[in-house]
Amino acid sequence: MTDYTPTPEDKFSFGLWTVGWQGTDVFGPSSRPLLDPVEATYQLAELGAAAVTFHDDDLLPDEADRDATLERFEKALAETGLAVEMVTTNLFSHPVFKEGALTANNREVRRYALAKVLRNIDLAASLGAKTFVLWGGREGAEHGAAKDVQAALDRYAESLNLLCSYVKEQGYDIRFALEPKPNEPRGDILLPTIGHALALISELDEPSMVGLNPEVGHEEMAGLNFAQGISQALWHDKLFHIDLNGQHGPRFDQDLRFGAGNLRGAFWTVDAILGAGAGKAYDGYVHFDYKPPRAEAIDGVWDSARSCMRNYLILRERVQAFRADPDVAAALTAAEVETLRTPTLADGESLADLRGASYDVDGLAARSVGMEALDQLALEHLMGAR
Ligand code: GCO
Ligand code: MN
Ligand code: MN
Repeated sequence: MTDYTPTPEDKFSFGLWTVGWQGTDVFGPSSRPLLDPVEATYQLAELGAAAVTFHDDDLLPDEADRDATLERFEKALAETGLAVEMVTTNLFSHPVFKEGALTANNREVRRYALAKVLRNIDLAASLGAKTFVLWGGREGAEHGAAKDVQAALDRYAESLNLLCSYVKEQGYDIRFALEPKPNEPRGDILLPTIGHALALISELDEPSMVGLNPEVGHEEMAGLNFAQGISQALWHDKLFHIDLNGQHGPRFDQDLRFGAGNLRGAFWTVDAILGAGAGKAYDGYVHFDYKPPRAEAIDGVWDSARSCMRNYLILRERVQAFRADPDVAAALTAAEVETLRTPTLADGESLADLRGASYDVDGLAARSVGMEALDQLALEHLMGAR
C-alpha cells in the first residue's frame, strides 16, 4: 500500500473553474470569495496535479487585464511545471447565449459564438493544449416547436466542420472533444449522451479530429452506466478526454468529488480507464470536473481537490488488485468472460455450419454463469476485504 501521493506520472488535471467555483447557485449568491486562477494554479501544483484546464472566462474575464493575467499565468506554469492540457470556451454564462450559442436560432449569436471559440483556439495552441472541449450547455430547448432540432444539428455540424478546417489551416496540434449532458442548464440539451455525440461525429467532414469528453455525472443523470459508456468510446477510439466527478443517481448535476456518490460506479470507471483487463486503455489526462460543495470554506475546497486524486489512486490500487487476484482469474474463466473474445464463427466456417449443428438448448439454459461470484470478488476488493 502506498500513501496515495499524486505524482506527475498520474497525469491529474483540474479545471480552474472547479476549485474556483464560488458557490453561487439558483437559491443564493456566492459563499466563497473569488479565487485568483493564478493562485489556484500554484496551489494545484502543490497538491500534486500535473495540469490545469480552463474556459476563456475563468482565466481572462476582463479584456483590460488580459495580457497581464496571461503573463502571470505563464510564469506560474513555468515555475510549477504544470501543463495546460485542455482549453474550453464559455458559451453558456453570458446572457447573449441564453437561447444557445453555436445552435442559437439567432444567426448573429452563432457568428459571435464561433468567433469567441476561434480566439480561444489560438490561445489554446499558444499554451500547448492538445485538447479543445466543447460543452453545449445552452444548446437545447425547453419547448417543442421553438427549436428545429434537425436545423440545430446542421448548425452544430457546420460549426465543427469550420473549426476543424481552421485548426488544420493553422497547423495546430489540437483535437476537439464534445461533452455530452442530458439537461441543465437547458431543459433538454442537444447531444445528451455519449451515444448521441458519437453518432454526430460520424457525420462530420473530419471525424478523426473530433472525439468525446464524457463526464461521470452527466451519463448518470441520464441513468446510464458511465463505465460502459466510456468503454464504447474507447472501442471507437473516441475517448479523447474525461471529466471525473461523482453523482447520486438521476438528480440535478451534483458535481461531487470523484469517488463520492456512486462509489461502485467509480470502481468500474477506473477499471474501464485502465482497459478492463484486456481492452484498450485511456492514456490521457485524468481530469476532474467537480464542484467543492457550497458549504465548504477554502480549506474544504483544497481538501476536496486532494480527495479527488486520493480516491482515484485508492480505486486504481483496488482495481489492480482485483485484476491480479488468482481467484478473480478463475472466476473470470468460470463466467466465460474471455470466451467472448472468440469470434462466433470460426475461420472457414459459414452460416450453414451454424444452421446445420445441433444444440443442447436445455443444457445451455441450465448452465452456471458465475457472475454473482465474480461480482462479489470485485465488491470485496472495493470494500478492502481482500
Ligand atoms: C457542467 C459541465 C462543464 C463543462 C465545462 C467544459 O455540467 O457544468 O460539465 O463543467 O465540463 O464547461 O466545457
Ligand atoms: Mn457537470
Ligand atoms: Mn464537465
